[in-house]
Amino acid sequence: MRGVTVIRHPLIRHNLTRLRDRRTAPQEFRRLLGEVAALMVYEATRSLRVRRCRVHTPLEETEGFVLEREVLLVPVLRAGLGMLEGILQLIPHARVGFLGLRREETTLRASFYHESLPEGLPRFEVFLIAPMLATGGSALAALDRLCEAGARRVRLINLVAAPEGIRAVRRRHPQVPIFTAAVDRQLNERGYILPGLGDAGDRLFGT
Ligand code: URA
Repeated sequence: MRGVTVIRHPLIRHNLTRLRDRRTAPQEFRRLLGEVAALMVYEATRSLRVRRCRVHTPLEETEGFVLEREVLLVPVLRAGLGMLEGILQLIPHARVGFLGLRREETTLRASFYHESLPEGLPRFEVFLIAPMLATGGSALAALDRLCEAGARRVRLINLVAAPEGIRAVRRRHPQVPIFTAAVDRQLNERGYILPGLGDAGDRLFGT
């Protein structure tokens, strides 16, 4: 599907299978999710632009490259926290914003309970981190908010997506590339992804 990259790296597929496994306890789940996130961001940052610069090695001056724009990571609370550390290992100089969204159990609608974003969003390459793209409600609310606040270059990093969620994001934000590790079959009547991995926040934190 256009705009959607399913990252099929063998290590990601191996770890994702362990994340799906209901026997995987929170401690192990956190470690695996962090590793997958680091592997995924390697791919998701491939198209970041660099500009030329000069650098002095101990022996001479030569050409080098620096990222053209600052990177901003925005995990959607709380499951997005599970991917944050892994991504920061690869981009330690990134700034971090937060969006707290809760999903109303009856309507499945997303509502904000927290926001912290830096000034000057237009200058950033923004990575929205939302492990589960189910109905798309939270991702859409977060993307709407980021765009309204001025973000111009946003990518969505997601672990498991449902076709419904992908369609919803593509329809409303066709300019936002989606990076995911798997597109699963469908949603159940409670808005959970099947086969999925359950509630990512619960699996991460055990609560
Ligand atoms: N959020 C989750 O954590 N899991 C799902 O399956 C759907 C939404």
